[in-house]
Amino acid sequence: MDRRQYSASAMRNRDPILDVLKTHLPTSGTVLEIASGSGEHAVHFAPQFPNLNWQATNYEDTQLDSVIDWIAHLPSGNLLPPLKLDATASVWPIESAGYPARPVTAVFNVNTIHISPWRVCEGLMAGTGRTLEKGGRLFIYGPFKVEGQHTAATNKDFDVWLRAENADYGIRDQGAVVAEAKKNGLTHLIAIPMPANNFIQIFDHI
Ligand SMILES: C[S@@+](CC[C@H](N)C(=O)[O-])C[C@H]1O[C@@H](n2cnc3c(N)ncnc32)[C@H](O)[C@@H]1O
Repeated sequence: MDRRQYSASAMRNRDPILDVLKTHLPTSGTVLEIASGSGEHAVHFAPQFPNLNWQATNYEDTQLDSVIDWIAHLPSGNLLPPLKLDATASVWPIESAGYPARPVTAVFNVNTIHISPWRVCEGLMAGTGRTLEKGGRLFIYGPFKVEGQHTAATNKDFDVWLRAENADYGIRDQGAVVAEAKKNGLTHLIAIPMPANNFIQIFDHI
């Protein structure tokens, strides 16, 4: 049985994201991807960075199965076996003594913190603070408000839709995300504008 899932947005955004990663990813160590979804990003990016390990993770079992099958379909020697990871957990599986792929030099996350409760952003920042090597980088892709304002009418509509789906969802304000990062030793480096009114927020772990 083929358990691969397909994400239209991952197909659309993967190459613009790749361009940013080529400039800003560290050159050694492990990239920890939080909420890998279908796994299409992991199998697209990992072969582009042969000097890095790529650790995909997912919260949902069906998505974990999708990543496993995508990796079987498009193997790359630097793709680690995917792990189940809940960003809100106070201990992430990679913190276990037996985890083989330290140091984690980058944490990478796409389209999650607006489609989940705020505690997922808090957990993402706390876990990154605990596990990311000093000098490492955090990348968060998605739509953001800037100084409390939407950057496009389409994002405003999307935000209304998200909040109707779940009152705890919603497009986050860049300032609130930066403040949460700062609590965990992460300094905002840059907000890179991306197609379709998204950004990649990059943070340095100092
Ligand atoms: C819109 S999907 C994005 C998936 C993938 N990054 C992509 O771009 O295709 C949102 C993801 O957030 C994940 N998610 C929600 N709550 C989570 C949590 N507490 N910990 C980890 N992931 C979570 C969901 O399982 C889902 O994979």
